[in-house]
Amino acid sequence: MTDRFVAAIDQGTTSSRCIIFGQDGAVVSADQREHRQIFPKPGWVEHDATEIWSKVQAVVAGALAKAGLRAEELSALGITNQRETTVLWDRATGKPVHNAIVWQDTRTSALCARLGGADGQDRFRDTTGLPLASYFSGPKAAWLLDNVPGLRTRAERGEIAFGTIDSWLIWNLTGGTDGGVHVTDVTNASRTMLMDLRTLEWDRSILAAMNVPEVMLPAIRSSAEVYGTATGHLRGVPVASALGDQQAAVFGQACYDTGTAKNTYGTGSFLLLNTGERPVPSKNGLITTVGYKIGAQAPVYCLEGSIAITGALVQWFRDQLGIIRSAAEIETLAASVEDNGGAYIVPAFSGLFAPYWRSDARGVVTGLTRYVTKAHLARAVLEATSWQTREVVDAMYQDSGVRISSLKVDGGMTANGLLMQHQADVLGVPVIRPRVPETTCLGAAYAAGLATGVWSGLDELTSHWRRDTAWEPRMEAAVREREYGRWRRAVERSFGWEDD
Ligand SMILES: Nc1ncnc2c1ncn2[C@@H]1O[C@H](COP(=O)(O)OP(=O)(O)OP(=O)(O)O)[C@@H](O)[C@H]1O
Ligand SMILES: [Mg+2]
Repeated sequence: MTDRFVAAIDQGTTSSRCIIFGQDGAVVSADQREHRQIFPKPGWVEHDATEIWSKVQAVVAGALAKAGLRAEELSALGITNQRETTVLWDRATGKPVHNAIVWQDTRTSALCARLGGADGQDRFRDTTGLPLASYFSGPKAAWLLDNVPGLRTRAERGEIAFGTIDSWLIWNLTGGTDGGVHVTDVTNASRTMLMDLRTLEWDRSILAAMNVPEVMLPAIRSSAEVYGTATGHLRGVPVASALGDQQAAVFGQACYDTGTAKNTYGTGSFLLLNTGERPVPSKNGLITTVGYKIGAQAPVYCLEGSIAITGALVQWFRDQLGIIRSAAEIETLAASVEDNGGAYIVPAFSGLFAPYWRSDARGVVTGLTRYVTKAHLARAVLEATSWQTREVVDAMYQDSGVRISSLKVDGGMTANGLLMQHQADVLGVPVIRPRVPETTCLGAAYAAGLATGVWSGLDELTSHWRRDTAWEPRMEAAVREREYGRWRRAVERSFGWEDD
């Protein structure tokens, strides 16, 4: 049998990656490039979708070159992407009509409050699984239609296409203005706030409420099927999967059984629990989302705890405060002291997502005395990640009754052993990192390989999963609960700062 190869594109918030995997699920080659973060005003975050498309083409070429492979040797190409980030483009020219509005952008807070009206934040929750918050893409599209001169008329005439980054990439990969297919997958569609979670179709009443014309929307497809074939340098390669990055990590971590969970630590952190073929509504500040759907099979749902800022707080500590020079240095600095010295940092830079959904929150540093040093603050930065995770794990238990017995983790911050130990300590369960830490790309590759017969099914994929490191909890329960109480008091101090 000749080896087969599957490529995955991970178009993330800070960078684009392409990784080529072999049939055993091992990494053959990888390439990565960052793109510009555009901050036009406090709270606004944009990307240039044209720049993203050229970086994606570059990393695909880079990964092929490093592997010494030609495009025709790829059995399939999978896509995974930063979610909710919204692009509107002109179907005739292929040009975006505005910078992409990034998921972290808060400009739609007031619009979301207006849409909630007397019903409040949960007006669309039964249908979509989501609270009204600036995070999601439907209101971002509505904002563009209202604010780019002449755009609404052009959209109503069918000249404009809406997409999250998966749609933008698939359209370009499959020919763009020359016959590109305009599709999205169920996981990305479930983040628009425009899709009915149960029927997996656009909801006309919500489209009307948000004033979004249906002609601009992509067709909703499964996460693993051949949407079309690539043109250009990748001519002939089947484009065979799309999954939001967090759902791709669920898939790459082999969380296929009901009750299994993973947490990915990147720019933010996202803990997803597989709830099987049943969408579980949340009463405790989580969201209900589609986990994946393989071809014609039934969809699998997840409960999700979305935390906006975790790794981004480390970046802020490095770039904005200049206290460390590299992200890795924070571990050495934090390890030079025993504890946080009483300091807590609540990184409510875009308000707080799960489980609070407070757009009026802003970041706070609290518990300061003259005793506190930069090393204590380094601890507080790391602990902000583990405490926020503890809050969503608690909410998960309250919503689902599932008490996790261990947590599978992945993403850039899992390189930090001190943080992973603290995470195990504050959860009171082991934290386990797999051998292939690039689970986001791996999940997209798995889905594309399933759609094209490279892999036989979920059992084969599960057999690839290997443990790398596990951290066992060591903190005494009394200490843990006392510290957790302090964290929650710090969170309360972040509320009510910004009046929308
Ligand atoms: N040793 C470390 N200790 C703590 N944080 C770290 C460490 N190394 C990296 N990080 C943080 O991890 C994040 C990068 O992780 P990762 O590469 O998984 O993110 P990403 O996939 O690029 O993010 P996105 O998909 O959102 O673009 C950065 O925010 C960085 O600050
Ligand atoms: Mg990522």
